[in-house]
Amino acid sequence: MEDTPANTPNSLKAAAIETSLRPLTLQHYIGQVEIKRNLQVFIQAARNRGQALDHVLLCGPPGLGKTTLANLLAHEMGVGLRSTSGPVMERQGDLAAILTNLEPGEILFIDEIHRMNRTVEEVLYSAMEDYKLDILIGQGPMARTVKLDLPAFTLVGATTRAGLLSSPLRERFGIPCHLQFYTAEEIQQIIMRSSELLNLNVEPEGSMELARRSRGTPRVANRLLRRIRDFAEQGAHATITLEVVVDSLERLGVDRYGLESLHRQLLRVIVEKFEGGPVGLSTLAAALSETKDTIEEVFEPYLIQDGFLQRTPQGRVATSKALDHLGCDPGPGAQLDMLNE
Ligand SMILES: Nc1ncnc2c1ncn2[C@@H]1O[C@H](COP(=O)(O)OP(=O)(O)O)[C@@H](O)[C@H]1O
Ligand SMILES: [Mg+2]
Repeated sequence: MEDTPANTPNSLKAAAIETSLRPLTLQHYIGQVEIKRNLQVFIQAARNRGQALDHVLLCGPPGLGKTTLANLLAHEMGVGLRSTSGPVMERQGDLAAILTNLEPGEILFIDEIHRMNRTVEEVLYSAMEDYKLDILIGQGPMARTVKLDLPAFTLVGATTRAGLLSSPLRERFGIPCHLQFYTAEEIQQIIMRSSELLNLNVEPEGSMELARRSRGTPRVANRLLRRIRDFAEQGAHATITLEVVVDSLERLGVDRYGLESLHRQLLRVIVEKFEGGPVGLSTLAAALSETKDTIEEVFEPYLIQDGFLQRTPQGRVATSKALDHLGCDPGPGAQLDMLNE
């Protein structure tokens, strides 16, 4: 999610800054320790054999570093990277054109791979398994099957919804990686690195407070840091102190848990309109005028991870932590919460 609408000079600038803050090597990629440790081995092994890296699937909520990791894999393997995304490929031919243009060893990055059309996806099966293209061209009596050899390549797929991937596709990834939310200490390191790149002087207490309120998400941390920089510049503060951070985040509506107004609104709907839940996802989406996908992919993962929300077979339930935070009386949700403990 970007913070400004697409195609405005401002969002272009934000995108450029995001790109410039992206670490280029595994060494500069902070956190995700296990993933990094394993990737290092697989990269080295593939390089020693002079082969393409096995296909990699990167799963996790938005902003945790999937695109960054894909770029970094290409850099570490010393190969090129072609990027596309699931929804933009409408026909088998769209994907075939990309595949047949790959150089040996190159990485093909498909973002939002769970949104790929099923017929397009089928082209990937033999491409991933045998580096072969097997597609039907044309219609009716003119139709013919084309079989082509492809260069050895690495498919890197990224998804916020691993559960939506078909099993034939999922099974063809030799290296599945599930990215986790970062610890506050890791986010603080990312903030310190970004502030150095942006030429900002941030006091340790300030960067720690920002880290605690960034929902374990590097993109959120970097976005809030840019806004805090604006407040600091306008307030003529040469140093970003704890006070500048707290004051700026307050003005941005980011609370001490890092929740923003839509997170609170979501919890408030469950607590105030539905007595703490359970509430079905569709009902919640309608009440918030958001899509079900956005709620599930963007808002819920952190609320669940940090213990504000539970998914039960009956629907979403606000926990006692949510009630405490919103300053409400415990409702049935809190009781359910206790039963589960
Ligand atoms: N492990 C990391 N170390 C340092 N910065 C990171 C890391 N992961 C992500 N970032 C930063 O967060 C931003 C968002 O990451 P990105 O790869 O675009 O996330 P995703 O593709 O998962 O939505 C990047 O611009 C990068 O600066
Ligand atoms: Mg991405």
